Amino acid sequence: MKAVRMHGHGGVEQLFFEDTNDPLIDGPGQAIVKLSAAAINHIDIWNRRGLTGVQISMPHILGADGAGMVVNVSGDVENVRVGDAVCLYPPTGCGQCEFCLTDRDFMCFRFRVLGERLEGTYAQYVKLPAQNCFPIPTGFSFEEAAAFPLVFITVWRMLITNARLEPGETILILGIGGGVASASLQVAKKIGVRIIATSGSDKKLEMARDLGADHRINHASKDFVKEVQTLTADRGVDVVLDCIGGEFWRKSIASLTQGGRLVTCGATAGGEAKDDIAAICSKELKIYGSTLGSREEFRQVINFLNAVKTKPVIDSIFPLEGAAAAQLHLEKARQFGKIVLQIPR
Ligand SMILES: NC(=O)c1ccc[n+]([C@@H]2O[C@H](COP(=O)([O-])OP(=O)(O)OC[C@H]3O[C@@H](n4cnc5c(N)ncnc54)[C@H](OP(=O)(O)O)[C@@H]3O)[C@@H](O)[C@H]2O)c1
Ligand SMILES: [Zn+2]
Repeated sequence: MKAVRMHGHGGVEQLFFEDTNDPLIDGPGQAIVKLSAAAINHIDIWNRRGLTGVQISMPHILGADGAGMVVNVSGDVENVRVGDAVCLYPPTGCGQCEFCLTDRDFMCFRFRVLGERLEGTYAQYVKLPAQNCFPIPTGFSFEEAAAFPLVFITVWRMLITNARLEPGETILILGIGGGVASASLQVAKKIGVRIIATSGSDKKLEMARDLGADHRINHASKDFVKEVQTLTADRGVDVVLDCIGGEFWRKSIASLTQGGRLVTCGATAGGEAKDDIAAICSKELKIYGSTLGSREEFRQVINFLNAVKTKPVIDSIFPLEGAAAAQLHLEKARQFGKIVLQIPR
């Protein structure tokens, strides 16, 4: 098959569009999916640069998100059949620990994700546990079905399961051009939440307005804490979604009202942040860290997207062989929403 493989850690020059062996069924519970589309996530860049601490044997296929058609399954598989159109739930675990046995593979000590400890989706075929194959939401193209899983499951766990975001509350979403941030905007809008979005780009703030962001702040030119206090009559917001970290973290804490919730799934600008323990105590704040979510939460996401008829925001579509250019586009934060790879037939 054709795939984009990484031959070593470093820049995008480590990515090669080349021939490699097709994956084969070699045990129970497996499926092979012929991919039509894959999507890029920031984790692909961390993995390429070797910053996750995960040992990856080279050459390696990146990519956690994909959608396509099932072309082979192990004899014992019953949840999907050859010919089914599917999108992919990215993580899997050991299948035996207390977390895996309670549908929390994402918390397993032997946690593996497509494109990280497993070969990923920048390829014509991918092998994965059959129980990670799900029906694609109604009316979604393969590109749309590849664009939503990783970010939407993460957002669902952050906002719905952990922060218990309620209609009528106010959320501050940082870096709205990001995949996680734009998906958060879509989910929050549909459940009736007032949204304050920030970005380093005025153009992206205009796009956020079109998606329903009620208030917009350019965090490069304005102090978003002050702006939030003005917009909320000095009350602060109920929830902050901060996946930027670094210097933003302390400002996120300062933007919260009494009993506010701060949710994070990453720190693109840096994981070494300054906390404000006094504010965390005196305002009774809750901080939720999240990584992906359960299969049940993934089912909830698919049901939600079907019910509210929402599709992920796609910034651009690159051919598979353009994966390096696609990653650069993301690395330079030029995107608004998701970048998709179209896989050759
Ligand atoms: N734990 C998990 O399960 C999980 C899942 C998904 C993502 N993540 C992590 O969450 C983070 C966001 O992921 P993503 O896929 O949404 O990333 P992304 O699409 O690359 O978006 C990141 C956005 O953050 C803003 N940003 C990035 N660097 C910045 C900086 N130095 N200063 C200010 N703003 C900056 C930009 O917003 P503007 O363009 O609007 O300025 C950028 O578009 C990443 O660190 C990723 O690894 C974790
Ligand atoms: Zn486990």
